[in-house]
Amino acid sequence: MIPRYASNDIPIRLERSMLFVPASRWSMVEKASASAADAVCLDLEDSVAPDEKAASRANIIRAFSELDFGRRVRMFRINGLDTPFAYRDLIEVVEAAGNHIDLVMVPKVSSPEEVNFVDLLLTQIEMNCGLTRRIGIEAQIETAAGFLNLREIAQSSARLEALIFGPGDYAASMQMPSSGIGEFDAHDDAYPGHRWHAAMHAIVAAARANGLRCLDGPYSGFKDAAGFDRSCRIALALGFDGKQCIHPSQLEAANSHFTPASEEVARAERIVQAYEKAIAEKRGAISLDGKMIDAANLRMARVVLEKHRLSLTKLTEGETHV
Ligand code: COA
Ligand code: MG
Repeated sequence: MIPRYASNDIPIRLERSMLFVPASRWSMVEKASASAADAVCLDLEDSVAPDEKAASRANIIRAFSELDFGRRVRMFRINGLDTPFAYRDLIEVVEAAGNHIDLVMVPKVSSPEEVNFVDLLLTQIEMNCGLTRRIGIEAQIETAAGFLNLREIAQSSARLEALIFGPGDYAASMQMPSSGIGEFDAHDDAYPGHRWHAAMHAIVAAARANGLRCLDGPYSGFKDAAGFDRSCRIALALGFDGKQCIHPSQLEAANSHFTPASEEVARAERIVQAYEKAIAEKRGAISLDGKMIDAANLRMARVVLEKHRLSLTKLTEGETHV
């Protein structure tokens, strides 16, 4: 496999907030299709009981075929490749509704071969059914092996669009005590620093080096707005593009955290203007508002402006998917 460092072939998608919905819960699926989420992920994995898997696949097919998701990114999560469900999840859902699906999320990705397997199976289904839109893949990094194999996973497939941190399963895999998924508890006080730092930082680096998006995992305490806020701020500070949500009440906060504030955008525009003028005057470092500005500030400002531009593509009511 040739390593891929360019991002040009990855569709640009807004994923400040991704709402998880158990595919077994039809009323929640309907609600999610009209929610404030940038992306909706219908789940077949951990939020669906084993006896409900087959009926839930049918719900996903119905949802993507019949409901209007507007311009929200439409995706579903298959079961892990170490279960008997995964191959049928892919074949049944994609054969029936592939033209209405943007992405497949693969949980507990521990090696590049797992992404390759999903890629190959999708290719087979697309060929057989004559699907014309390429379905992308998002990989959850939530095992010790996934963390160690991040570099290879991030370069594994041209379909790969994003890496996602999964704090619940990661804690289990690493045997790190944790009282909730992604939540803060007494164990955080015992560790000087942030317990997920190494994994989160490595995920962002692997994503950026390969032109992929990266999302932080969920925060299960959906009544703890302050905790969710803190979790979003940490993810934003580390460079993540957005956050998975498990309840509609978390969506507005995620959207707002991962949209650059207007003052930040105004400052970025001033930096670009001032720096372009400086370069025209053959100066590489200048002073702006009492601070040194050089080419690194220009690059940081462009990141802010790009995120701002992307956030303006947010769907408006009544718009349909393109
Ligand atoms: N997507 C869409 N709608 C949701 C939702 C979700 N993830 N979570 C809650 N809602 C809806 C409820 O159906 C309810 O709608 P209603 O007022 O029309 O009846 C409303 O939001 C309020 O829900 P609430 O009563 O506060 O929560 P709940 O007790 O019904 O559900 C959970 C709580 C945690 C079970 C539910 O939020 C959930 O299943 N979340 C997703 C779990 C998941 O996908 N996990 C896998 C990834 S970690
Ligand atoms: Mg998980």
